[in-house]
Amino acid sequence: MLIRKSVLAVNPYIPGKPIEETKRQLGLKEVIKLASNENPLGPSPKALSAIKRSLSGVNRYPDARGFYLKKRLAKFLGLSSENFVLGNGSDELIDVVIKTFMEADENIVTSEGTFLEYEIIAQVNDRKVKKSPLRNFKYDLEAMLKLVDKKTKLIFIANPNNPTGTYVTKYEIAEFINALPEGVVVVFDEAYNAFIDVDDYPDSLSYLKKKKKIIILRTFSKAYGLAGLRLGYAIAAPELVTYMERIRQPFNVNLLAQVAGLAALGDNDFLKKTRRLILEGKDFIYRELSQMGLSYVFSVANFILVDTGKDSREVFKSMLKFGVIVRDMEQYGLRNFIRVTIGTQKENKKFLRVLGKVLTEDKP
Ligand SMILES: Cc1ncc(COP(=O)(O)O)c(C=O)c1O
Repeated sequence: MLIRKSVLAVNPYIPGKPIEETKRQLGLKEVIKLASNENPLGPSPKALSAIKRSLSGVNRYPDARGFYLKKRLAKFLGLSSENFVLGNGSDELIDVVIKTFMEADENIVTSEGTFLEYEIIAQVNDRKVKKSPLRNFKYDLEAMLKLVDKKTKLIFIANPNNPTGTYVTKYEIAEFINALPEGVVVVFDEAYNAFIDVDDYPDSLSYLKKKKKIIILRTFSKAYGLAGLRLGYAIAAPELVTYMERIRQPFNVNLLAQVAGLAALGDNDFLKKTRRLILEGKDFIYRELSQMGLSYVFSVANFILVDTGKDSREVFKSMLKFGVIVRDMEQYGLRNFIRVTIGTQKENKKFLRVLGKVLTEDKP
């Protein structure tokens, strides 16, 4: 066989539909994309200025160690530079973690209805994944614990979870971590932590300080508006970091991403503005959806899972014709649901208008 069996078995990740492609295919002038949980305000302005200042340096390779960015992250989070691995988006770090820690006969435990890359990247690496069903759209940690066996090496927890927007509390995590056998590494994927507005969200860094075997993944793609540059980081104990550093490519984080990340960490105004926009936009969409008689899942992230009561692929296609890109949840096993990213107020209004229109049409 030319192609590896595990590669043949992969169900590839389907990204949000790009704006330009939609315009071209449907002959539309105006298209809004609320499908990939990006920042609707654009990139952090401080990051943008830093990129412009650094453009003439791109004939040089980037700093393979990411010295300044790690130093800045360490200061930002009260840790040391040795606690960080930088990645080409946090996606790459999922791969790095699997390659660093897992033997061929070991498995991963995670949930159904979660970020698909855990399973896809595990499959590509020939590693087994065990999943428990969601309970009320939330990770069911008790059920996950029952799946843990002698061969379990990694546990992936997206917190908040994508695509549901739900989270596991600090109490649930405390109990879960205490019950885990030695030698299991818990990966907290906190891509959306900047949007949290609840008091009982876990302080995952405190587990690192207690010397628990954990890895935290974060990204500049969402709140900082740098998805196109590809920049994420893993936080872990220095002993683990050393080995993860062996796996990543030497120049995995490009020069512009490094300077942009550095500047974005100091852009508090932008972060505040983004948070306000998301929290207000979410409240607005909740209210309007309720008025339309639609149910949705309460989210602590920058997106909402909406029950359309109809085949979400049809709803997606119909909305596309009106220039609104959302995400249908077929691939996640949530048939009637769409996931919508909170946009600007203008985009949110257009989304609601178009959703109302397509749901009252006969077809979907
Ligand atoms: C839960 C979760 N983890 C990781 C990622 C990947 O982010 P990045 O752009 O840093 O690769 C995403 C992106 O949507 C996500 O939703």
